Amino acid sequence: MRTHKCGDTTIEQLDQTVTICGWVHRRRDHGGVIFIDLRDREGLVQVVFDPDLAEQFAIAEHVRSEYVLQITGLVRRRPEGTVNKNMKSGEIEILAKAIVVLNESETPPFPIESDIEVNEELRLRYRYLDLRKTAMQEKMRVRRDVTRIMRNYLDDNDFFEIETPYLTKATPEGARDYIVPSRTHENSFFALPQSPQLYKQMLMVAGFDRYYQVVRCFRDEDLRADRQPEFTQLDLETSFMTEDQIMNVTEEMIRQLFAKVINVQLDAVFPRMTYAEAISRFGIDRPDLRIPLELVDIAEFMKDVDFKVFAAPANDPKGRIAAMRVPNGGNIMTRKEIDDLTKFVGNYGAKGLAYIKVNDLNAGVEGLQSPIVKFAPAEVWAKVLEKTGAQDGDLIFFGADKASIVNESMAALRVKLGHDLNLIEGDWKPVWVVDFPMFEWDEKANRFTAIHHPFTAPSCSVEELKANPGTALSRAYDLVLNGTEVGGGSIRINRPAMQQIVFEILGIGEEEAREKFGFLLDALKYGAPPHGGLAFGLDRLVMLMTGSSSIRDVIAFPKTQSAACPLVNAPAVILDEQLKELGIRLVKPPVKEKA
Ligand code: AMO
Ligand code: AMP
Repeated sequence: MRTHKCGDTTIEQLDQTVTICGWVHRRRDHGGVIFIDLRDREGLVQVVFDPDLAEQFAIAEHVRSEYVLQITGLVRRRPEGTVNKNMKSGEIEILAKAIVVLNESETPPFPIESDIEVNEELRLRYRYLDLRKTAMQEKMRVRRDVTRIMRNYLDDNDFFEIETPYLTKATPEGARDYIVPSRTHENSFFALPQSPQLYKQMLMVAGFDRYYQVVRCFRDEDLRADRQPEFTQLDLETSFMTEDQIMNVTEEMIRQLFAKVINVQLDAVFPRMTYAEAISRFGIDRPDLRIPLELVDIAEFMKDVDFKVFAAPANDPKGRIAAMRVPNGGNIMTRKEIDDLTKFVGNYGAKGLAYIKVNDLNAGVEGLQSPIVKFAPAEVWAKVLEKTGAQDGDLIFFGADKASIVNESMAALRVKLGHDLNLIEGDWKPVWVVDFPMFEWDEKANRFTAIHHPFTAPSCSVEELKANPGTALSRAYDLVLNGTEVGGGSIRINRPAMQQIVFEILGIGEEEAREKFGFLLDALKYGAPPHGGLAFGLDRLVMLMTGSSSIRDVIAFPKTQSAACPLVNAPAVILDEQLKELGIRLVKPPVKEKA
C-alpha cells in the first residue's frame, strides 16, 4: 500500500513519486492551499494539496484529525524559510497527486500531542490513542531496543532462552499471589508466579548452565510509581559462577545497553557498597548517590543529655540519632520550609525534625539558631558540629527515634532536599549493594522474614547460621541506579540441609516445607550445581532510560494505581455458569456492572 513511511520520507527521495499511509496529525487551510501533516510510527511528513487538482482538494478539505489516508505525491523541497530542522522530513514536502481515505475517525477524546496533560484514567481507557503520541512511540522504541540488546548480549554469552510456566504454584517474593481457579481440579488453584525463581533453579539442576527469559511476573501488592501488579523481568540464572562473575557479566550488559540505546557511558566499574554502609550513610539500601547529603550518627554524644527525645534513642540499642548537614541550607531555607519538612517526615512516622542553623561557628552556642540547643551543654554541640563538618551558613537536621523510623524518614528527607534544592550531581550513579543480612525481624509477626527470598545462600556455614540468624549475611546483591532498585539476585542454596535450616529459621516447619517446596528439596538432592543469578526490572530500567516518572509510561497496557485495566474493564464479573463449572460460590453476590 505504500512505498515509504511518512517519517522516513526525506531529501533522499527528492523528485520521486512516493506513496505513504498514515494518520492525519493536523490539517491547515492556508488560503487556497491545504497542508496535512501525516503521521506514522516513524514521524510526520507535510503534504500539500493545490486547488488545481479539484477532486483531491475536495477530499482533503473534508478529512479530519486521525483519519487514515493513503497519499501519492511528488517529493519536493520546502520553500526557503519553511525548512524544519527538528524533523527528519523537515527539508521536504509531498505535493499530493492522489488521496484515498482508508478510514475515518471520530474526534479523539484528547489531542494526540505528547505535551498536553491528560487525565491518566482517560489515557488508559483510550490507550490505543495515547500510544499514538510520538513520546509514547519513542518509549516503546527504547523498550524494544533494550530487550533486543539484552537478548543479543545474553545469546552471545552462551545463555539459553527458556520459557517457564505461568500456571504454577506460589513462589514467594514477599507479595500476595494472584490465584487462578482450576476447572479440572476442583477446590485447587494455580498461582501466577511472583518470579520464575524456582523453575530457573531447577533448570540449573537440569544442567542448562546459563538461562535467561524476558518474563512476566505477577505480584498483588500495594502499587507505587515503580510497581505494577504484572511487570517484566529480565530473569537469568547461571551455574558454576561466583557472585563477582555474575555481577561483572550483568553490569557489562547494562553498560552496553546505556551506550547503545541512549548513548550514555556508565562507569567502567560499578562501585560496590555494603548494606551496612548504605544504611549508615543514607538510611536506605537503595541510595541515590547523585545526592551529596549523608547521615552521621551522633548518639554517642547524647547518652547523658536532659533532652529525652535524644537521650532515649541514644540509650536504646534499637535507637538511632542521625544528623544530616545541608551545606548553605541555613541561608536558603525559610522557617516555613523547615516546618513543612517536619510534616513531611511525619509521613514516615517521625515525631519531629530538630534542626540547627549554623550562623557563626566561632561564636559557640550563641552562633547557633535552634529550638534544641538549650537542651544540651555547649561541649556536646561542639562535638556534633565537628563530626558533621558544619560550616557557617549550614543547616543540620536531626532524626531521633527507633532506627527504622530514623532511617526511613531521613532517607526520604535526603531525597526530597536533593531534588528541592537542586543538589543532584551527575546523571547516572549505579551502585551494587552487597552483604545484605539474611533475615529481618518482623516485630508484628514476631518472626524472621527473608530479606531476599528463602532460597538465597548465607555467606556462613549451617552451624553459624543456626547460632546467629539475626546477624548472618547473605550472598545477595542488588543493582541500584539513581535511587531505584533495578535488579537483584544472589547465589542460591544448593544443598537440602541448608535449605531446610533456612526454612526452619523462617518458621516454615518440615511438613509445610514439604508441602510447599518438596519439589525443590527433592531437586537439590540430585546433584544441584552451585548456582546463582539475578533479575532486572525491565520496566524500571526503561523508565529511567526514557526519563519517565512512572513505569506505567513504558508499559503498553499498564494497570491503574488500583490494579485495574480501564481499557478492557478488567477485572470483571464472570458468568454464573463459569463459577459453577469452577466449583466456586461467591460470598457476596456480584454487583451488576453499570452500563
Ligand atoms: P526481586 O523481587 O528483587 O527479585 O525482583 C527483581 C527486580 O524486579 C523489579 N520489580 C518490579 N518491577 C515492577 N513492579 C513490581 N511490582 C516489581 N517488583 C520487583 C525490581 C527488582 O529489582 N527471583 C528474584 C531474582 C533473583 O534472585 O534472581 C526476584 O524476583 O527492579
Ligand atoms: P519538643 O520538645 O517535642 O517540642 O521538641 C523540640 C524539637 O525537637 C522540635 O524542633 C521537634 O521538631 C524536635 N523533635 C521532636 N521529636 C523529634 C524526633 N523524634 N527526632 C528529631 N527531632 C525531634
